[in-house]
Amino acid sequence: MAQVRIEHVFKRFGPVTAVNDFNLTVEDGEFVSILGPSGCGKTTSLRMIAGFEKATEGEIYIGDHCVSSSSQNKFVPPENRDIGMVFQSYAVWPHMTVVENVAYPLKIQKVPKEERLKRVNEMLELVHLGEYGHRYPHQLSGGQQQRVALARALVAQPGLLLLDEPLSNLDAKLRESMRFEILSIQKALGITVVYVTHDQGEAMAMSDRVVVMSKGVVQQIGAPHEIYTNPANKMVADFIGLVNFMQGEVSDDRVYLQGTTASFPNTSGVSGSATIAVRPENITMSRGGGMLEGTLTHRFYLGDAVDYRVTVGDHDVRVIVKGADLKEFADGEKVYLDFEKVMIFDRE
Ligand SMILES: Nc1ncnc2c1ncn2[C@@H]1O[C@H](COP(=O)(O)OP(=O)(O)OP(=O)(O)O)[C@@H](O)[C@H]1O
Ligand SMILES: [Mg+2]
Repeated sequence: MAQVRIEHVFKRFGPVTAVNDFNLTVEDGEFVSILGPSGCGKTTSLRMIAGFEKATEGEIYIGDHCVSSSSQNKFVPPENRDIGMVFQSYAVWPHMTVVENVAYPLKIQKVPKEERLKRVNEMLELVHLGEYGHRYPHQLSGGQQQRVALARALVAQPGLLLLDEPLSNLDAKLRESMRFEILSIQKALGITVVYVTHDQGEAMAMSDRVVVMSKGVVQQIGAPHEIYTNPANKMVADFIGLVNFMQGEVSDDRVYLQGTTASFPNTSGVSGSATIAVRPENITMSRGGGMLEGTLTHRFYLGDAVDYRVTVGDHDVRVIVKGADLKEFADGEKVYLDFEKVMIFDRE
């Protein structure tokens, strides 16, 4: 329906650079998430695509149209960008019923009443709110209000759907079922989606590609599997999933784990001081001997796994063993660790 192209976009609020040289092409029909911690510039980026915020520098294209250009002094207002948007606070109008809320974008477009009602009803069916058309927002749960906002964003069949943390106010269970609802609506309508979230699980589960941001700067763009297994830097490794960071030193193309005799091949371009990173699920623990000797200090039972803390030299290492028995290892016991899929980064 619509490709989105963002080229060298900056947004400055006085001395604050909220978005710093953003470049991204979202393909037609693609689902792309912008993921990052609070204040990293997600909402600002989305609002610039929508036209609620004007980029200080750079160009934005939706389909074949340039909708924002600082060099050509061009700016297309949101209502002419063929977008649907759900805001972070999902603002539905309290004085309007569900039907009136959802019909509003069609009313603005002067769609005749009969056609309007038909499309609103179809949309309410799609978000499972067929029975709720006559209610006011205060008579709905948070999840139902969120679905009203979604229906309102979709009713005019925009080529591009922009969602800003649309599931943040829902409980864990509803959030999961809404993920599937949004994805099936997206597939059914063949719509392009840019989805903002700080929840890495949500971004990983829903997206074709994820844009990881920190402090206004894009850190990595890639498929969920790519950013998890091959993070571009320490920030991405830390933000996506769990990770142990340890200090190391590089010599002879090997990285030596500080305070231990363990070493790994240097698969990175790092020289001198390095940070060694390994995910807790990529460590095997045994009694029989291994790469590193340590002392088990804590055990946390997670139901489907046990989460251990092991002291190795100066390092406190987290090890997660799936399907393990809590009683398998005891506190204070001497254990051996083997690392797999070690990641090596520059020490900052
Ligand atoms: N109108 C504004 N004036 C000044 N600074 C702003 C304005 N809007 C946003 N900022 C700043 O820009 C930065 C990015 O804000 P933004 O709302 O894009 O973050 P976010 O990633 O959406 O965070 P959250 O996850 O908390 O919603 C923040 O430092 C914020 O304080
Ligand atoms: Mg935000």
